[in-house]
Amino acid sequence: MTPVTLVAPPPIPRAAGSLPLLGHAVQLFRDNLAFIASLREKYGPLVEITLQPGTRTIVVQDPALIRTMLTDLGPSLDKGRFFEKMGQLLGESVVTVAGQEHVRKRRQLQPAFGRPEIARYVDVMRGEVNATIEAWTPGRALDVRESMIKLSLDMLVKTVFSGSLDAATFRRLREDLSVVLDGVGVRVMLPDWVERLPIAFNRRFARARDGVRVTIGNAIAALQTSGHDTGDMLSMLLRAEDETTGRPLTEEQICSEILTLALAGTENTATVLSWVLYELDRHPAIETRVLAELDEVLGDRPVTLDDITRLPCLGRVITEALRLHHTGWLVTRRTMHETRLGPWTLPAGTELAYCQHALHRDPAFYPEPLTFDPDRWLDGNQTPPGAFVPFGAGKHKCIGDRFAMTELITALATLLRRWKLELAPGQTVRPVARATVRPRTLVMIPRPRSDTARDKAA
Ligand code: HEM
Repeated sequence: MTPVTLVAPPPIPRAAGSLPLLGHAVQLFRDNLAFIASLREKYGPLVEITLQPGTRTIVVQDPALIRTMLTDLGPSLDKGRFFEKMGQLLGESVVTVAGQEHVRKRRQLQPAFGRPEIARYVDVMRGEVNATIEAWTPGRALDVRESMIKLSLDMLVKTVFSGSLDAATFRRLREDLSVVLDGVGVRVMLPDWVERLPIAFNRRFARARDGVRVTIGNAIAALQTSGHDTGDMLSMLLRAEDETTGRPLTEEQICSEILTLALAGTENTATVLSWVLYELDRHPAIETRVLAELDEVLGDRPVTLDDITRLPCLGRVITEALRLHHTGWLVTRRTMHETRLGPWTLPAGTELAYCQHALHRDPAFYPEPLTFDPDRWLDGNQTPPGAFVPFGAGKHKCIGDRFAMTELITALATLLRRWKLELAPGQTVRPVARATVRPRTLVMIPRPRSDTARDKAA
């Protein structure tokens, strides 16, 4: 029998419907989540799509190959198209660069995400949650996504940027950031030539991108002039040296890292919080169990660091939200040399991509994948390696994973005991995928817990 290694792998199929000059832009633009999900149904472990005509983009669908791409091949791959578009906003930062440069940048940020720092953050995070929910009015419709973005931003500003960037500066950034983020999401799908067209969309993108960098630049300059060391992330970056040149980081370098954290640290957290609130309203029995756990473990006292691992039911709800509503729809890499992926050999310059949103809904790994069922995690993660990657894997794995879980648990444990959020009447909540997958809109009505049936019965 011929040894398996000598059998030529099957050719990588091309997804149907690519057009000259446009590639798959039409399908993606119409409904990018549905298009990417359809690839899993129709094709095998790898499938080729066209984002930029003339460049092959291989969507990796098999968990074992996704894992290989992220971990074993991680050090030898560039970050690819999605991060290249992000780089139009962020410049060169920990999230956009690869290789040794990435290792250096990651080392500079790491101290802010260590265990001792996170321990310091919990009380501050809880304070921000309390300030946010104090301002809610019973019965008055609340834009939950906006509110969660503001809360995530406040938590980040007061923890990682404790002393230097004032909240107003960060808040000014919000509007510009959301324009740029949506712009990045659209630019990933469209061929590059569209970016050069003199259309309103491109002008708005450029204006917002420049505005963001000017705002951060001014804040850095102010801190530099004052010479004040607040001991936070920005001060740390101002003190850091570039390992190659031995010189302090330039304003440009610092600005890139700050922006990266401002984006990564708010968009994802806010989106997961929004989806959890939505799902708990749709599943009252699950919500009742979460509340019972909070009553039992916390009683009347506030949540503390020690509780983060003592709330397994809430933990499973968050894990299930990270599965069903993952924020990532197209994470990319790029081969820098001829690269072997499983039995396939890919030439240098091949774009690779994977979609967590679709992967986490694959019925092969998740029975009834569209059902929100936190109990599927009762026995831990039983899926094959690479099938559940909420924070990625390998050298680019999320630096803020522990920080994010601490934020999510602190926020939910505090918020849920005070307020019941009900979906506003007449709304259909749908996901939209731009730079991340998020609810298009999510308006809910806050009701004080003491007014709810559960508390009346208690
Ligand atoms: C629930 C919330 C979050 C989710 C689901 C999430 C998810 C991810 C994923 C999947 C990656 C890997 C991307 C890749 O493979 O290239 C990543 C990277 C990253 N995340 Fe997060 N993230 C979250 C929260 C945060 C927070 C709170 C921060 C910081 C405050 C953060 C900062 C970063 C950074 C800097 C990277 C780049 C790491 C590197 O390339 O070395 N994230 N995140």
